[in-house]
Amino acid sequence: MLGIQKRLVGSYLIVILITVLILELFLIFFVRYYYYHNIERIMMNQAELSATFFNQYFADEDLEKQSERLLKGFSQHSTAQVQIIGSSGQLLQDSTGLRADVHETAFQDVQEAFSGHTGSWRGYDPLTHEAILAVSYPLQANDTIVGVVRFITSLTDTNTTVNQISAIFIAAGLVVVVIVAVLGILVSRTITGPITELKLAAEKMAEGDFTVSVRKRYQDELGTLADILTMMAAKIRRNERLKNDFISSVSHELRTPLTSIKGWAITLKSDSEDGKVDLMEGLDIIEAESDRLTRLVDELLDFSKIDNGRLMLSCAPLQIGDLLHHIGKQLAPRAARQGISLEVQTDAPLPLLQADENRLKQVLINLIDNALKFTEPGGAIKLHACSTQEQIMITVEDTGSGIAEQDLEHVFQKFFKGSSHTPGSGIGLSISEQIIKLHGGQLKIDSRVGKGTIVEIRIPV
Ligand SMILES: Nc1ncnc2c1ncn2[C@@H]1O[C@H](COP(=O)(O)OP(=O)(O)OP(=O)(O)O)[C@@H](O)[C@H]1O
Ligand SMILES: [Mg+2]
Repeated sequence: MLGIQKRLVGSYLIVILITVLILELFLIFFVRYYYYHNIERIMMNQAELSATFFNQYFADEDLEKQSERLLKGFSQHSTAQVQIIGSSGQLLQDSTGLRADVHETAFQDVQEAFSGHTGSWRGYDPLTHEAILAVSYPLQANDTIVGVVRFITSLTDTNTTVNQISAIFIAAGLVVVVIVAVLGILVSRTITGPITELKLAAEKMAEGDFTVSVRKRYQDELGTLADILTMMAAKIRRNERLKNDFISSVSHELRTPLTSIKGWAITLKSDSEDGKVDLMEGLDIIEAESDRLTRLVDELLDFSKIDNGRLMLSCAPLQIGDLLHHIGKQLAPRAARQGISLEVQTDAPLPLLQADENRLKQVLINLIDNALKFTEPGGAIKLHACSTQEQIMITVEDTGSGIAEQDLEHVFQKFFKGSSHTPGSGIGLSISEQIIKLHGGQLKIDSRVGKGTIVEIRIPV
């Protein structure tokens, strides 16, 4: 049994045991009270009747002499044992036969009757040791107590009945406890079952097996947890795959410029003496390829900085319009080479923005690079900036291939390249989004396959 199950069943049981115990005690107490009280009341009535009878018809006569007649009258309507006790406490008559030498004032009920009240007493008969209930009532003649009438009944039958009823109550209570225990175990299984499964799955994941999927049994918190665990495993699998893709794509990215640099180095070494090859051209290419390598390494460094939250912005007031035009000019040659028109359009007075110029430039170059990569010759790219009271909005719009709908939600993930086979490591958009977020803004992407893509940046002023 799991610890949780023990605790659950245990707490159920404790609650129900306490409840049943309190209920039983109350019921048993009530039953006893009801039975004893009833008997006492009946005998009390008889005693009172007898005393009234004596007061009315025998008040002037001598109690001791009339006691036999009186006893007959008193015990006529009662099954109880009746005693008549004289003024000094001596037993005058007893319906079960005379028992002299017993001094009745020893009993508490008799004492009370002699002091003018009705007395009742429950205890054991000193001779038979039987459980009895005795009720005494003063016999009065002209306002003086001349004796006491005492009714006594055995409680054996009543006690048996009360005990039987109590036994039934206790048995019923035990049945309830057993039912609750069984139910508790069954119910707790519906909780511990899924927990065990979750535990096993988590253990497997801890060992590095992410192929697990946990069955969702109920629509509750544990069901949600099962879903989350399954989803987590899927995400980890996916990240694992992305990481591998990334390593192979980075290796590829590194190899291309390296191959080119090495190729040119060999060519220059062997042929430059003859002056056959243009030395300058070779060196230019080596320079460009080295730049490409540096950029790639920088990107990777940025990326790890963002991942560790170590990327710091150095913000200063920035005229975003100027920046856009500057970038437009910088990329115009490449656009022209690819036969794509690149247009920059900014609304006249744009407010100054507190931003990190280099980082924003990096974002915009990333976005335009994407647009150039995924647009065919003859296409167009439009850069636009406008502002409202609170924010500046920059859009980069192209008429390129667009992004498939199922890829759209993943493009911001690191290393995600979709089905694209273009060069790139798939971290451009991921870095860009993080940089915009650091500026307190947001980057959104909207795209339609075959129509084009619009990337929208909003940064609060
Ligand atoms: N303008 C666009 N048109 C069509 N597809 C795009 C566009 N921008 C991004 N994508 C898709 O989103 C993917 C992720 O873009 P991202 O810029 O993050 O990576 P990359 O360009 O492939 O590599 P990197 O930017 O690191 O060189 C791209 O591989 C491409 O499939
Ligand atoms: Mg990119």
